[in-house]
Amino acid sequence: MMAVCVTLLIFNSFMEYQTEQLKLVGPEASLYAVAGENLVLPCFIKPNTSAVDMTVEWLRIEEMPLLVHRYRNHEDRYEKQTPSYRGRTSLFKEELKKGNASLKLSPVQASDEGKYKCLIEDKSWYDDIIVHIMVEAQGSHPVFRMESYDNSGGVNLVCESRGWRPEPEVLWLNRDGDPLPAEETQIDRDTEGFSVKRRITVHDYSDSNRFYCRLQQKHHMMEAEIIINSKVFEAWKWDVGISVSACLIAVGAIITAVICYKKASVLQREKQEAASELQKMEEYTASELHKVEKYADFLKKKLSLVDVTLDPDTAHPELRVSADGKQVTRGDTRQKNLSKPSLKRFSYYYSVVGKQSFYKRRFYYEVQVRENTWWTLGVMRESVNRKGKITWSPQYGLWTVALSGNQYWAKADPDVRLTLREVEKVGVFVDYEEGLVSFYDVESRSHIYSFTGQSFTEKLYPYFWTWNNKPLIITAVTE
Ligand SMILES: *[C@@H]1O[C@H](CO)[C@@H](O)[C@H](O)[C@H]1NC(C)=O
Ligand SMILES: *[C@@H]1O[C@H](CO)[C@@H](O)[C@H](O)[C@H]1NC(C)=O
Repeated sequence: MMAVCVTLLIFNSFMEYQTEQLKLVGPEASLYAVAGENLVLPCFIKPNTSAVDMTVEWLRIEEMPLLVHRYRNHEDRYEKQTPSYRGRTSLFKEELKKGNASLKLSPVQASDEGKYKCLIEDKSWYDDIIVHIMVEAQGSHPVFRMESYDNSGGVNLVCESRGWRPEPEVLWLNRDGDPLPAEETQIDRDTEGFSVKRRITVHDYSDSNRFYCRLQQKHHMMEAEIIINSKVFEAWKWDVGISVSACLIAVGAIITAVICYKKASVLQREKQEAASELQKMEEYTASELHKVEKYADFLKKKLSLVDVTLDPDTAHPELRVSADGKQVTRGDTRQKNLSKPSLKRFSYYYSVVGKQSFYKRRFYYEVQVRENTWWTLGVMRESVNRKGKITWSPQYGLWTVALSGNQYWAKADPDVRLTLREVEKVGVFVDYEEGLVSFYDVESRSHIYSFTGQSFTEKLYPYFWTWNNKPLIITAVTE
């Protein structure tokens, strides 16, 4: 009892030590992003600790958290990713080794604005932090309105724009770009963002009635120009008695407003867009190239396709081999009157081998495993003792992969845990002279596992083991 307590204490303090030490760190203030550009959401472990073996999750915090990105068991898992983030998230794999689990979002969309949680988990440690993102959005082009004359002959102009996030600064400028005194900016918030409105009273400067309204954010700027004909000012002198609305109609006709847009960073933006587009193309090309290479590799193996049939004289008495020698299942009982009490027969392990053996050549065949959840298959060298316990490992003359329940394994020395999606059909490829045994997922044409650098001296037989009443089927060559 004492010993248990002490152990627990030590264990506890070890855990505390760990949790005390490691901590996630991120930005303190909100991050401002620009729609269309890339953004890095910082999150890293302090002190510097590798996160390669940990689980990293990025979530968008709403009423229900949305999965933005998940990294687990050394790979990115996209199954449950929220569709609106598909193809736009990535971690920096090299940085992960240094505990940097920052997320790249490319490109940012206006709808990405919100709260994100970075969560990192290990067997004995857990922490999370929140990162706020604000997306800067550029609003509508400024619109001018002439509202009225004031009683000293000035004209009231209003510059308006909608849909900004965050609210821009609104400036009235003269033709030289100097700010002019104007009323307070009115700001309203609606679903589209911020609407802004700023009023100014201008007088007739005879030759230079040219004004600018500028809307400015951290990353965006927009400017519009209005030129007011001197006659507009004279209209007031001629006839003060005209009703304001009539006057406005008249005035509207003689205002020449030239609107020009200047984006502070237009070049910059376009270059960044080009770079991000190029990067996407390159990533796409690389991934397509990879797929093509993978497929070509698979087809090369398939060139060595052979016809394999099972040898019923080798089958363990509890196994049932179909008449055509293409299927094997495990039965409920031992078969009694088996014809030949054969030396070739497996008597302890539920195994069977092919009739064909292969020597100093390449060969390839496919086995449909589908619903069977307990199997081992691959190749076996001739001299393996079929009467006793079999050790599935190259050292004992078997090169196999296995599914036990829901876990795939490569039966190496020691066993290798394989992370695979459900495999329907396994392709087995052997290059005898090269000392290579490779396994493929036929449906996705992807490589599962290879034993390399082996040295074969004997004949090799296709080997099958099943513990299940669902069949293992050697796919017919004619299929
Ligand atoms: C973090 O750790 C990695 C690997 O241990 C090392 O290469 C790197 O220099 C470290 N960085 C810092 C800032 O300590
Ligand atoms: C994490 O990685 C990103 C991308 O390389 C980098 O921009 C950022 O500075 C890194 N953060 C730290 C703390 O190293």
